[in-house]
Amino acid sequence: MSTAGKVIKCKAAVLWEANKPFSIEEVEVAPPKAHEVRIKILATGICRSDDHVVTGGLVMPFPIILGHEAAGLVESVGEGVTSLKPGDKVIPLFIPQCGECSACLSSKGNMCIKNDIGSAAGLMADGTSRFTCKGKPVHHFIGTSTFTEYTVVHETAAVKIDSAAPPEKICLIGCGFSTGYGAALQTAKVEAGSTCAVFGLGGVGLSVIMGCKAAGASRIIAVDINSDKFAKAKELGATDCINPKDCKEPIHKVLIGMTGYGVDYSFEVIGRIETMVAALASCHYNYGVSVIVGVPPAAQNITFDPMLLFSGRTWKGSVFGGWKSKDSVPKLVADYMKKKFVLEPLITHTLPFSKINEGFDLLRAGKSIRSVLTF
Ligand SMILES: NC(=O)c1ccc[n+]([C@@H]2O[C@H](COP(=O)([O-])OP(=O)(O)OC[C@H]3O[C@@H](n4cnc5c(N)ncnc54)[C@H](O)[C@@H]3O)[C@@H](O)[C@H]2O)c1
Ligand SMILES: [Zn+2]
Ligand SMILES: [Zn+2]
Repeated sequence: MSTAGKVIKCKAAVLWEANKPFSIEEVEVAPPKAHEVRIKILATGICRSDDHVVTGGLVMPFPIILGHEAAGLVESVGEGVTSLKPGDKVIPLFIPQCGECSACLSSKGNMCIKNDIGSAAGLMADGTSRFTCKGKPVHHFIGTSTFTEYTVVHETAAVKIDSAAPPEKICLIGCGFSTGYGAALQTAKVEAGSTCAVFGLGGVGLSVIMGCKAAGASRIIAVDINSDKFAKAKELGATDCINPKDCKEPIHKVLIGMTGYGVDYSFEVIGRIETMVAALASCHYNYGVSVIVGVPPAAQNITFDPMLLFSGRTWKGSVFGGWKSKDSVPKLVADYMKKKFVLEPLITHTLPFSKINEGFDLLRAGKSIRSVLTF
């Protein structure tokens, strides 16, 4: 019996307030309105950005259904949807691609104006939610919300991918892998023979290492305060691993000492202002490029010596690896299917959706890279 046009009752992980566990609740998911699609989620990864909402580092309205790194099947479509149909395998896109805004029209941009990161409204474009729990509306998260059996997203925030692609692997293309890999290849445009430093060796930072390696970097220095992350960093291409806690000097001085005048490219993949400045100071004083990938913590400002930039360094940010999402995600999935890169080393745990809190505990304890929840 078709569920199209009807409210679906299903399980979702609702976060009622900050610093609390997720509660698995029965929610009602309304049918998609015009230009929206309802998706049955098959697999979803846990990213640190979800945890930033739990801890208040990334401010979003509560109650909310988090999750943004997923793969699923289109269950039904709203009026006027032409790019997707029921049964299509899709990846939801936390950076949509409307094709009409200045960022979408520019060859240099990817952060479509329709994204809900800065605005943090937690609602669909018409200002309402498709989720209800215990009679109360529940917010969406950055246009995706994937910690649920069913979600509703705008047509521009999901893209059809190869129907043969394994959801429990390629869900990482919805955020962590693409973000890191693209930060190296698209945003920094790392060249063959260059030197790189990657601060933070989670799923995103390790994907930066994969991107630097794919670009042919000659030296990739991995930096983390958790030395347990070093074996995997080396497996994926790091040539050196450094724990700042083991160093007598500040980390930027250590990196300058190792490379002469600093690395060609540095990446902050943690989300802390101290490491953002340290990464900037670690790149070559004149032509170094430093990329902020970690989500800046809410309500914190950076103070830094402008001489760091005056001498010529470039400081940039990168969201979703600079990829135009709807154009690039199907190609990245195709490249994975052709074995141009691997995702398996990033996936340390696969858990049933009901164990979502366990998945977050593993992340917080520094024991997992990516945990993938399956439905
Ligand atoms: N720009 C984007 O589009 C985008 C997309 C996804 C995630 N993010 C952000 O990227 C960051 C990394 O995400 P992740 O899922 O890989 O996170 P993660 O928590 O798995 O990895 C972060 C790593 O940083 C290390 N670390 C913590 N403090 C450190 C310090 N002071 N010095 C050195 N290392 C330190 C941790 O030990 C950990 O290994 C997060 O801030 C996340 O929100 C940004
Ligand atoms: Zn993410
Ligand atoms: Zn756009």
